[in-house]
Parts: sequence; C-alpha cells; structure tokens
Amino acid sequence: MSTAGRKDSFYFRAKSLEYRSRAAFKLLELQERFGVIGNGPVLEFGSSPGGWTQAALSFTVGPILSIDRVSMEPVENVTFLKADLLDPSVEVKIRDWLSANNLGGFSSVLSDAMVKTSGNHSLDHSRSYEICRRVLDLSLMFLTEGGCVAAKMFQGDLTAELFRKYSGFFDFRKITSVSATREGSSEIYLVFKRFSGKRVR
Ligand SMILES: C[S@@+](CC[C@H](N)C(=O)[O-])C[C@H]1O[C@@H](n2cnc3c(N)ncnc32)[C@H](O)[C@@H]1O
Repeated sequence: MSTAGRKDSFYFRAKSLEYRSRAAFKLLELQERFGVIGNGPVLEFGSSPGGWTQAALSFTVGPILSIDRVSMEPVENVTFLKADLLDPSVEVKIRDWLSANNLGGFSSVLSDAMVKTSGNHSLDHSRSYEICRRVLDLSLMFLTEGGCVAAKMFQGDLTAELFRKYSGFFDFRKITSVSATREGSSEIYLVFKRFSGKRVR
C-alpha cells in the first residue's frame, strides 16, 4: 500500500494530538476498556518511537521503564533502555532499575513489541508467539500482586495454548482486538488482570 493510503484517521489524529505514532490509540482503547494502567510503575516493551509511552504517561503516577531494541527520542519522566527483550541480560537490567528506584515490581506490563512483518503469516505468527511468550514470562517475574498485562501478538495456531498457559496466574483474561489496528491485520492483544502473585504453578 502507498504511504498516502496508510495515512488514515488515526494517523491524522495522532499528528494533531502530537503523539509520536498512531499506535497510541491502541493503548488508549485498551486503557478505556480494561484499565491496563494503574497508579504504580509501568514496564513497557516495544516502546519506540513512543506513542504508547506518551499515552501511558497520562494515566500513571508511577515511574515508567520503556524498552526497545531500537533507540527512542527521550520522553520526559520516562527511563528508556535500549535492549532486546529476548536477550537473557534484560532481566538483570530490569532488576537493577527496580533496585535503583527502590521498587519491588511493576503494576503494569505493556507490550506492543513486534518484528517487521514478512508477509508470511505462519512465520510472523511464530515470531510474535516467541516475543509474546517472553513478555509473559517477564511479567510473571516482575509484576506485583494484583498487576496487569497487555501484550501484542499475531493470532494463529499457538495463540490459544499461550493464552491458556498464563490464564491460571490471573483472575481476568481476555483476547481482544482494537479499532486502530489496520484492516486485514491479525494483530490481537492478550489482556490479563489481577495477578495472583504466584510466580510458578
Ligand atoms: C509497532 S512498533 C511499537 C510502536 C510503539 N509502541 C509506539 O506506540 O510508538 C514495535 C516495536 O517493537 C520493537 N521490538 C521488536 N522486537 C523486539 C525485541 N526483541 N526487543 C525489544 N523491542 C523489540 C521494535 O523495535 C519496534 O520499535
């Protein structure tokens, strides 16, 4: 599709509200429908260029740690960490940040992380599965009791199994799509709320 064709109403609304990306509206909808951001610290994956970060800032009074493997222009009052969430060393970096800020964990984990689509649905689905599963594992490590997760993936064969695997850790679970997702995309969000606090089953 041409660049002009991709400039939809969300693109123009993002421009007028000075969001760095139209993706901000995805988080705004998830927040309105599910209250995925509370008053506590937020851990965000796949933050660059920063639309979700800007949107998250308007809801939380807690600090935000945003992570992406590509750089992000600074957002005031947000810590940005350039790191690959699939790399095991990211866990140490998150732990270091928490202890430097005297925090025990995060009340929300948000992930809009995704690799560039290849056009091969099965490949895109399995890559998104790998990212989403890792985000959910990191959520179990770093969420505080009662916490919440919203994580993106491309729907496919492995979605139901992944959803089931993590459902038992939370009181509320939902697979949903949002209206700012582009037509024809299989993008969905796994939303889990009210973390039990039990990190293993
Ligand atoms: C759709 S964009 C995110 C848009 C952003 N949430 C916003 O609102 O502006 C997906 C992001 O996921 C990041 N990403 C993909 N794989 C990643 C990984 N393994 N670790 C960290 N970030 C990753 C990409 O670099 C990209 O910036």
